[in-house]
Amino acid sequence: MSDYILEMKNITKTFPGVKALDNVTFRLRPGTVHALMGENGAGKSTLMKCLFGIYHRDAGSIVFNGQEVDFKDSKESIDAGISMIHQELQPIRMMTIAENVFLGNYPLGKFNLVNHGKMNEETKSLLEEVGLYLDPTTLLNDLTVSQMQSVEIAKAISHHAKVVIMDEPTSSLTTSEVEKLFEIIDKLKAKNIGIIYISHKMDEILRISDDITVMRDGQYVGTWPAKEMTTAKIIQAMVGRELTSLFPEKTNQISEEVVLELQDVTSPNPLSFKHASFTLRKGEVLGIGGLVGAQRTELMEALYGMRVLEQGKILIKGQEVSIKRPADAIKNRIALVTEDRRYNGIFGVLSITDNASVAALKEYVGRMGLLDERKINQVVEGNVDRLRVKTPNNKTKIESLSGGNQQKVILARWLANNPDILILDEPTRGIDVGAKYEIYQIINDLAAEGKSIIMITSEMSELLGVSDRIMVMCEGRVAGFLNRDVATQESVMTLATKFMGAHEGGMESV
Ligand SMILES: Nc1ncnc2c1ncn2[C@@H]1O[C@H](COP(=O)(O)OP(=O)(O)OP(=O)(O)O)[C@@H](O)[C@H]1O
Ligand SMILES: [Mg+2]
Repeated sequence: MSDYILEMKNITKTFPGVKALDNVTFRLRPGTVHALMGENGAGKSTLMKCLFGIYHRDAGSIVFNGQEVDFKDSKESIDAGISMIHQELQPIRMMTIAENVFLGNYPLGKFNLVNHGKMNEETKSLLEEVGLYLDPTTLLNDLTVSQMQSVEIAKAISHHAKVVIMDEPTSSLTTSEVEKLFEIIDKLKAKNIGIIYISHKMDEILRISDDITVMRDGQYVGTWPAKEMTTAKIIQAMVGRELTSLFPEKTNQISEEVVLELQDVTSPNPLSFKHASFTLRKGEVLGIGGLVGAQRTELMEALYGMRVLEQGKILIKGQEVSIKRPADAIKNRIALVTEDRRYNGIFGVLSITDNASVAALKEYVGRMGLLDERKINQVVEGNVDRLRVKTPNNKTKIESLSGGNQQKVILARWLANNPDILILDEPTRGIDVGAKYEIYQIINDLAAEGKSIIMITSEMSELLGVSDRIMVMCEGRVAGFLNRDVATQESVMTLATKFMGAHEGGMESV
């Protein structure tokens, strides 16, 4: 018997114009967490989709549980004992938890009818195994992302999974939800299940993995015991060079000129933001810190005209303006890059150029009202290069890009719009370390050009490393401001919990 529950050997997969996997080897020991790492577009998700039967490999072999396998589709893979928690969860929202867990596998009773009683009962005990005490008849639509994930894991257990693949499972979880997931992972390990864990978060990887495999440009780089690895060693393996600093040097000059001022801005929703006042200067990067639920996104959406105000004023360069819809914000040269690319108006079937330019079309209307395609292509190409989007060419459809590269295209799109005030909501979520640096560099360069930037981030190191000044919110209120030179993890956390009894939420530690 082999030491491995799963062995993928010499896997190769080509898409038109891209060799996504080139002779990749990956071995998983039962009862362990094996992290799969690599830059955006390295081929991690593709390798997992080849295993799971979503894609079909061009060459190579897969031995699972002692047998050579070749799954035609994900159902075959699930039946055999491999489950996948996807990068972008797609549960069927209008079904109950129990229906989701037993999808395609309903227990039948008399007259071949689905035995709902049995289904609900079994679901209830499966849910308890993953620490979810919910009524199995609850609709998926009513669950949080974390709960949906737990349902997916319960589903894996119901299929007696021997291997569970988790592709960036923590990207939308709060700190306490991450802890819960780690507890579940420990339980799965104790059942001798092997877990393949994909993430860009170093601290998580170093904490929970037993083994680490790194891929680069579709190729296998190496596998190491996690306890022999450090962040620096992993980064070196991922990017093929040493990254001496995680943040570029600041070169922006903050001018005295106030470009934006919010005065006493309050939402009609009593649970949302209230009495928010702050100023933003020309050339300044203002970071907004706070725990999940602090209403940072909501406040920025209001500034962008997506939410109504009950009271308060917005001033641009000292003049009060009325921003009732995003078009008003755009007219005032404000851009907002939202946090969740799934709801972000990515047009999956448009090319990168189209996606990167839709926000900016007005800028490129030439003489006689015609679009200046050459100018569009030039700007888009510049931005796509600058962000190192990994793609065969700019005519590629965005839906075939890796998760992190889609995020970069969205950013390229707003840069093409050339705003004066750029609001970034979690700009580096799902982005690898090398590309994060590029994004920080762009933020710095824009500020140095005299643009003003507001950045919401839940990553403490990013908040401290990129901001000139930090505004911390807590439960809808501005809890305080910290200048770059005095801000520390402790001072931010103190403000982030200022109006709270307990210390809980989604801020990651450095
Ligand atoms: N269906 C597809 N059609 C064409 N190209 C694809 C398709 N799926 C993936 N690719 C390409 O294969 C390469 C690997 O992508 P993959 O999604 O596996 O990267 P990843 O390592 O998961 O990155 P990320 O960290 O950004 O999620 C990328 O260049 C991507 O554009
Ligand atoms: Mg991926």
